[in-house]
Amino acid sequence: MSKARLIDGKKLAAKLRKTVGTQTLTLKKAYGLVPGLAAVLVGEDPASQIYIRNKETHAREVGMNNFSRRLAKNISEAKLLKIVSELNADPVINGILVQQPLSKKIDAFTVIEKMDPAKDVDGFHSFNLSALFRGSGGLVPCTPKGCMMLLETTISDLNGANAVVLGRSNIVGKPLAQLLLAANTTVTITHSHTCNLPEICRNADILIAAIGQPKLIKGHWIKPGAVVLDVGINRIKTKDGEQTLVGDVDFDEVVEIAGAITPVPGGVGPMTIACLLENTLIACCRQNGVPVPEI
Ligand code: GUN
Repeated sequence: MSKARLIDGKKLAAKLRKTVGTQTLTLKKAYGLVPGLAAVLVGEDPASQIYIRNKETHAREVGMNNFSRRLAKNISEAKLLKIVSELNADPVINGILVQQPLSKKIDAFTVIEKMDPAKDVDGFHSFNLSALFRGSGGLVPCTPKGCMMLLETTISDLNGANAVVLGRSNIVGKPLAQLLLAANTTVTITHSHTCNLPEICRNADILIAAIGQPKLIKGHWIKPGAVVLDVGINRIKTKDGEQTLVGDVDFDEVVEIAGAITPVPGGVGPMTIACLLENTLIACCRQNGVPVPEI
């Protein structure tokens, strides 16, 4: 059997960022508006620092204003909520996100609910989640949105496909299941307590791994020809003691069986940031009552 086709998330994300950049310039020329993004980082988690830096860099590259905030790791919940209120009230800020995970002292749900839902470019606020359930109107969570774009460029017709999602997080698994349902796939959500996981996965035409366990998904779990998206980003040590990034999928095994697969890195990851920029552009247009461009 031939090897799976690589789904190039880096390339698709670059294309989306280019379109967002063009639309951002048009918005400036037509209305004098420049979308502003405030990414908030609490503490010094190394992975979160990298994510925030990437978000800032790409926001600037597409012509947006960056109003990121870096806050001390021991900041109180009350102080963080006050900062979110200030960002809500600032008209030059169109998109706000607070990088997760937060410390145990701070309740992430309370922080998210404090955000103006119109500025919640992560799409995590209950207003946006209810829009996701209804199927229209809100801001859509970035990683699930990016996964759907990758699927739509890989599969000509999603109708009736069996989609299996591994992982039930609020950030990826649960919202992604809603988007897959809206696209007329038959969705199974699995998680760490699911029985017969390999058997369920073998029934998947589309398998999306977001469970946070390095190389969990093996070749014999895969239906020949299936499309596999790997959302996992796990830092592990190699035999020679070096740090490396791997996904939730055992790539070397699965690439031999699947029809198409995303690599880690360079698959889903870049799409998350590109979709965040798209959401910031959409949020800016909606807040200012100007037409949202077709992307
Ligand atoms: N942590 C991991 N993924 C995300 C994300 O998409 N948004 C935020 N705010 N935090 C995250």
